[in-house]
Amino acid sequence: MSRKPFIAGNWKMNKTAAEAVETVKGLAAEVADIKNVDIAVFPTFLSVLAAKEAAAGSNVNVGVQGVHFAASGAYTGEVSVDMLKEHGITHAIVGHSERRQYFGETNETVNKRTLAALDAGITPFTCIGETLEERESGNMEKVLESQLREGLAGLTADQMEKTILAYEPVWAIGTGVTASPQQAQDAHAFIRQTLTDMFGTDTAEKVIIQYGGSVKAGNVAELIGQKDIDGALVGGASLKVEDFSALLKNASAVC
Ligand code: PGA
Repeated sequence: MSRKPFIAGNWKMNKTAAEAVETVKGLAAEVADIKNVDIAVFPTFLSVLAAKEAAAGSNVNVGVQGVHFAASGAYTGEVSVDMLKEHGITHAIVGHSERRQYFGETNETVNKRTLAALDAGITPFTCIGETLEERESGNMEKVLESQLREGLAGLTADQMEKTILAYEPVWAIGTGVTASPQQAQDAHAFIRQTLTDMFGTDTAEKVIIQYGGSVKAGNVAELIGQKDIDGALVGGASLKVEDFSALLKNASAVC
């Protein structure tokens, strides 16, 4: 496969700094031999620096769960790209469905955050995905298309190639219900087709599209075995060293 799979753990609002450090150290020791999969974890802002230090010299990248688009100013609770760059942060989740659902993020703000990250040389992991209601009413493709067209508006082809997309059907996040490999592949193929329309084939073929939603050690191999699935964004199964390292090893074995 020409696209190197990228598997990342979104720790959401879990782990103290001490716990994050312990997990990163344990994970780094377990996955040191994995070369064919890129790996990252996303702790909270308060734990990220300690976790990054603990991961130094390993193949585990450490990033953040969000980035604001303004350089500075009256945006309580947010962090700018310069503040992240100061600490050498290179990876950031943007527009996770929980941010959209609970914190009012929209395609427009996701777009601004994605562009701000790219301008600063930070890799955005820009998230998209439909709700169950949207899927059941036959609107999945319409929703994904507007998330892509609005969320990625104004990106150059070069910037698109540096962006990682995460397709996370909202109904599969934290529910134990995973999209079937075929359902996921169908959505990924649609996403890549839309990217082709927007940026051309060459670029679309280069973009890493992760699947997210109840990915675990037992289903990762089949998911990433699909043509257009290039990795995973993992929540629950990334929290314990044992679970996440098993998942990464199973993925690595089939890449
Ligand atoms: P989950 O979360 O693996 O716990 O379903 C995935 C995510 O929200 O990124």
